[in-house]
Amino acid sequence: RHFGDARFVLNPCSHLSPDDIAYFRSVLSPSSIVQDADDLETFNNDWLQKHRGQSKLVLKPSSTEEVSKTLKYCNDNMLAVVPQGGNTGLVGGSVPVFDEIVVSMSNMHSIRSFDPVSGALVCDAGCILEVLDKYLEQQGYIMPLDLGAKGSCHIGGNVSTNAGGLRLLRYGSLHGTVLGLEVVLPDGTILDNLSTLRKDNTGYDLKQLFIGSEGTLGIVTGVSILSPKRSRAVNVALVGLNSFDNVQAAFKRSKDELSEVLSAFEFWDKAAIQLVKDHLLAGANDPLESLHPFYVLIETSGSNKDHDDAKLTQYLEGLMNDDIVQDGVIAQDTTQIQNLWAIREGIPEACSKAGAVYKYDISMPVPVLYQAVEDMKNRLIQKNAIGESKLFTSVIGYGHVGDGNLHLNVAAHEYSKEATDLIEPYIFEWTAKHAGSVSAEHGLGISKNNHLHYSKSPSMIQLMKRFKQLIDPNEIMNPYKYLPDQ
Ligand code: FAD
Ligand code: MLT
Ligand code: ZN
Repeated sequence: RHFGDARFVLNPCSHLSPDDIAYFRSVLSPSSIVQDADDLETFNNDWLQKHRGQSKLVLKPSSTEEVSKTLKYCNDNMLAVVPQGGNTGLVGGSVPVFDEIVVSMSNMHSIRSFDPVSGALVCDAGCILEVLDKYLEQQGYIMPLDLGAKGSCHIGGNVSTNAGGLRLLRYGSLHGTVLGLEVVLPDGTILDNLSTLRKDNTGYDLKQLFIGSEGTLGIVTGVSILSPKRSRAVNVALVGLNSFDNVQAAFKRSKDELSEVLSAFEFWDKAAIQLVKDHLLAGANDPLESLHPFYVLIETSGSNKDHDDAKLTQYLEGLMNDDIVQDGVIAQDTTQIQNLWAIREGIPEACSKAGAVYKYDISMPVPVLYQAVEDMKNRLIQKNAIGESKLFTSVIGYGHVGDGNLHLNVAAHEYSKEATDLIEPYIFEWTAKHAGSVSAEHGLGISKNNHLHYSKSPSMIQLMKRFKQLIDPNEIMNPYKYLPDQ
């Protein structure tokens, strides 16, 4: 992909003219138009510092009508657009490939309504996830999703990536919790489907098409989401284990013994804790005495503290007695709960500090989950590519055991074709062979779009292309991403 000529081969979008800027000035307030080179930097670079665009224009509409006028103009004039939320995406989907216009949703951050009986929250797409959760906390409710990027990511970005996160095991996916969406189509049409109904069987469920469509079909401007009651009693335990078989055994038992109060079951390996210790904890707050091959964070959320305490203690004692776990702690207060979660939530940041990190976000049957890490490690050892002064420094495994979702991270000194070729397509073939998905939750963006065929059949990809053609015939929405190039 080269800047300039490839643009015309892949997408016939045109470049910005003074007339375009004049139009946007007539529609948006002056502070909503960003052209300054320094200010453009953050919008052009992704969280991983891996993907870098060349956009000369960022637009920050303040209302659905402004989004509509912006998109209609772009569509009429063949100007390519990248919708952007909190820019925490991990597959290069949120930044331009060339000089596409960035439409940032950061000026749309109002809560529109909340129903304290049903728990239905309706808000602008640019609301930050953590802000929404803090608001709901005051009402006795909780957002049905939580992730390490909560302080920056937008609910519109979460919906557009169909983010999974740390409590999917308890509250399910956004395909279930999103009740309705307001979406602006590329031609400016406002699709108003901000329903707060739990049950609605009238016609095709169009909102599902936009959940996880990564800004390729339109811009999500409003979200209606069902929030569950916030649990009065929350417990968090951290345990150290010596094998992934034991991680599975602990998970299986948690479903039996913690059942309805289980709200998270997250694992990570020794390489992950080592990076967290090196880059974030600085050795100070290490909760377990020694290093273990595996760690599991278990969270329970219920309504009766005594009941949950008793259940969790009994469960952990059973694991200890049967030699399934080697060590463990239970958080004694809110600060300790936060400290344990900080270890888990700090892993992505710690990995990114290890250098250039290749991220693979794959789902597969739990029994083979960790084999992917071991096979990758062995492959790189065989190729003499890992270790001091080699291409790669470490292979890290962590993720959402309850969802069969592994985060395989491979840390290198720098991004290079040589490094990429050692991992890909090997990891995608491995995933397909084990009946897995090449993206469990991060999506496709520009990192995985050409690997979609490992997880979806030709006829499914063909139908996806037809939807895209129907809704975005000029291909202005987030071009070069999501669907395969060919
Ligand atoms: P962006 O990064 O801005 O955009 C992501 C994609 O959505 C892009 O394709 C963009 O064009 C599109 N988009 C954004 N907003 C809109 C909109 N309003 N309308 C249409 N399209 C839009 N993901 C998980 O699934 N689970 C995790 O546990 C998780 N943890 C993370 C932890 C960290 C530290 C980080 C950095 C990322 C994590 N992510 C996780 C990845 C990421 O998908 C989420 O952070 C989040 O859902 C992205 O939201 P965002 O607002 O930052 O979107
Ligand atoms: C996580 O579970 O921490 C996120 O999906 C981010 C990541 O994979 O690094
Ligand atoms: Zn994750």
